[in-house]
Amino acid sequence: MTEAEPKIELHLHLEGAAPPAFIRQIAFEKSMNINGIFDDRGNYAYRDFWHFLEVYEVATSTLSRPEDYARLTRAVLQESAESGVIYSETFLSPDFCGGRDVGAWREYLAAIREAAMVAERDFGIVLRGIVTPIRHFGPEVARETALCAAETAGDFIVGFGLAGDEIKFQPIDFKWSFDCARESGLRLTCHAGEWGGPESVRAAWRDLGVERIGHGVRAIEDPRLVDELAEAGVVLECCPGSNITLGLYPNWRAHPIAQLRDRGVRVTISTDDPPFFHTSMAREYERLAEAFGWDEAVFRSIARTSAEAAFCNRETRDKIMKKLEKADA
Ligand code: ADE
Ligand code: ZN
Repeated sequence: MTEAEPKIELHLHLEGAAPPAFIRQIAFEKSMNINGIFDDRGNYAYRDFWHFLEVYEVATSTLSRPEDYARLTRAVLQESAESGVIYSETFLSPDFCGGRDVGAWREYLAAIREAAMVAERDFGIVLRGIVTPIRHFGPEVARETALCAAETAGDFIVGFGLAGDEIKFQPIDFKWSFDCARESGLRLTCHAGEWGGPESVRAAWRDLGVERIGHGVRAIEDPRLVDELAEAGVVLECCPGSNITLGLYPNWRAHPIAQLRDRGVRVTISTDDPPFFHTSMAREYERLAEAFGWDEAVFRSIARTSAEAAFCNRETRDKIMKKLEKADA
């Protein structure tokens, strides 16, 4: 049932979804030597989260032209569709796509969008983008990224987020950027409660006014915060396989997603950076079913929550809701 089950993914980094073979091929075409980021079986090799961020940036350095991103978009959407994903929101970074120059960013975006339209026709999957500054690049740099986001907000770029090293800076440092994004009509999310504790989740929610939290799972360490998130309907973009592979939790049964859900928090399921964490949406479903005994009804209700929390416009949401309802019938 897992591949056939219609899925909605809200937390996926486009570069982080690049298969290692894809990055090797692009590097080969450009005569770049990046062999140090792979193990002897050809997988991405990293020691911990911080080393993962470095490896991620080396892999991403091979993607230097809009057409590289067009190829990547098609490859990623094909894989997602094979896992049963019907709608995907990916994080896109003008930091990597054109170095925060608005004109260059528009060219990357046009290439990504065109590839997404073709993938929608070929694989039946819909893509929308969330512009995402990189936290450890700092708040000043993030302002330039926010301006790129504001210039291109619309029916494809629908959100604004913040990824990268959660230990660096405070959410409040990025307030200008988040206000700028909100004023241009973008919906807001922020990585928090992955490497930072519950206070990091509270700060992102309170100081940036986000409606979704990327990960957010460490909210479980503060029962009052869990109640507040449930009460306010804040949506958590949970990526259990990512958390387990990076060593945040020792195994699937120890992951707090089920507890959070039982306590009334609106949880959703995503893969984060699937080839880095040896996962896919189908695998996340399989492992969650094994660990918590979740059946089709649970996954359907989570998919509905994801559709409600998607940042797309009404027309697109109605379209994906119809697909979910068709599967229910
Ligand atoms: N960038 C890519 N994956 C990430 C993660 N899991 N946390 C923070 N930043 C990221
Ligand atoms: Zn992430």
